[in-house]
Parts: sequence; C-alpha cells; structure tokens
Amino acid sequence: MTPESQTATLAEVHRGAPSGEPLLFADDLVAGYLPGVNILQSCSLVLHPGELVGIIGPNGAGKSTLLKSLFGLVNIRSGTLTLKGEEITNMRADALVRRGVGFVPQTNNVFPSLTIEENLQMGVFQTPKQYAERVEAVIDLFPELGKRRKQRAGALSGGERQMVAMARALMPEPSVLLLDEPSAGLSPVRQDEAFLRTRRINKAGVSVVIVEQNARRALQICDRAYVLDQGTNAYSGPGRDLMSDPKVIELYLGTLAADVEAAEEDHGA
Ligand SMILES: Nc1ncnc2c1ncn2[C@@H]1O[C@H](COP(=O)(O)OP(=O)(O)OP(=O)(O)O)[C@@H](O)[C@H]1O
Ligand SMILES: [Mg+2]
Repeated sequence: MTPESQTATLAEVHRGAPSGEPLLFADDLVAGYLPGVNILQSCSLVLHPGELVGIIGPNGAGKSTLLKSLFGLVNIRSGTLTLKGEEITNMRADALVRRGVGFVPQTNNVFPSLTIEENLQMGVFQTPKQYAERVEAVIDLFPELGKRRKQRAGALSGGERQMVAMARALMPEPSVLLLDEPSAGLSPVRQDEAFLRTRRINKAGVSVVIVEQNARRALQICDRAYVLDQGTNAYSGPGRDLMSDPKVIELYLGTLAADVEAAEEDHGA
C-alpha cells in the first residue's frame, strides 16, 4: 500500500478524526476469548486528546470486547495498541492505570460489600497517598456520594452504583476514560444525568471512549462515533453525520429513525 492510499484508508476508517498524534490508537485488532474464535475480526479506533468518542452497534457486535481489549482484559491476537505513541498492546490493566487509563465495566463495577469511601480508596490502591489529594475533586463531580461516604455500595440504587464506579475510575486522575454502557438499566432521567456527567468529565479534560446501547443519545453527545458490526468497523464519523446517514439509520438505528427525524425537526434541520 502506498503511503497515500494508506492515508486515504485511515481517513475512511476514522472519518472526521482530528489530525495530529492520537492519544489512543487501536490499529486493526483481532481479539477473542476462546482459542480459535476471534470476536474482533479487524477493529480500529482512534481517540484524540479531548475527544468524546462513542462505540455503538447491535448486541454481540463486540463493543465490550473492544473496550476490554483496550484495557488489557482480552487477549489481542494481532494488531497494535498505542497510548501517546507508545505501544501498550496486551499491557496489563494495573500498568495501564499507572499510565492514565481508567475503565468502568458494563457490569459488576463496584465492590458491594465495601463503603463508597472504600470503593474510592480501591481506585487508588496503587498510589494510596493520592486519595487525600483527589477525593474532594471527585466528590465535587458526584455530590450525592459525598453525603453517603460510609454507606455500603451494595445498598445503593443502579444509578448510584454507576456513579461510584465512575468516581472510582476517576480517582487516579486518568487522561483516558473507557466507559461501558454507563446508562444501562437506568431510568430515563438517570440516563440523561449519566450522559450529562460524561460530558462534564470530558469537558474537564478527560478523553473518553463510551460504549452505548442508546445509540441516538450517544451520537448526540459524542464528537465522533464508530459503528461496530460482527467485530469489525462498519461506519464512523461525527455523531450528527451518522444520525442522518440513511444506511446507518436503516441498519443500526432502524426503530429510532422516527426519533431522529423528530430530533432534527427540533433543531430546525
Ligand atoms: N467472556 C467471554 N467468553 C467467551 N465469549 C464471550 C465472552 N464475552 C463475550 N463473548 C462473546 O463475544 C461476542 C461479543 O460480545 P460483546 O460482549 O463484546 O458484545 P457487545 O457488543 O458488548 O454486546 P452487548 O450490546 O450485548 O453488550 C458475543 O458473541 C459474546 O458471546
Ligand atoms: Mg457490551
């Protein structure tokens, strides 16, 4: 491949991405759980400094697998992963945390028998001195948690647990935050709060990759998004472009097409 055609392909796969060196670059990943079974077939993603990038796609498309492979939790069989230009392919999660990557899994993302405060301490277990420095800044983002520090996480509602999980991931002051479906299982009002909080965290300088079931909402808040299908990139681009792309609507936002049209009317498009 000539350098020119390579650039053209990269521009296609990462449509709308800013120029310059990406913060995180997953290039052509093949990954899976069981021997001989690849879940990610050929999957690429770039995250530039300050971006909020979404991953959407049908159930089982490999969204969680991609996020886990970015955090050393799924074996990458081929392809490369770099952080600030440095290769981190298959680096362990604890080493990635030290390098500024945070991850909030889709499920089982709090320690239910520990208090809120203890969950936050777990976020900085590698650097316990950081607790005192960070705790107030993190509680500022989640004031509801501040009043209930001694309460056990297991006694909290789904929305509150999600806050604890996000707060814990923010404790070591990550530069990249990987979020797997922060709105899952929440009431519509709580979902909106989760999206707004994600935006706020991003505006505060944390670059974010967010996997979302709620494709329409994700496309509204993200700078760009990737549509995954069967472990590979299907489409990508700025959220608004994807929302109005007839192929994306037909294949991935089907039942939401009416909502999209309504939203566009709201915005006078
Ligand atoms: N721990 C595992 N061991 C073996 N296979 C797995 C494991 N986790 C997921 N898979 C398989 O990998 C494929 C992709 O799953 P993944 O959880 O990445 O999809 P997803 O896009 O996140 O789906 P959802 O929208 O339901 O969360 C599925 O076929 C799933 O069965
Ligand atoms: Mg998933």
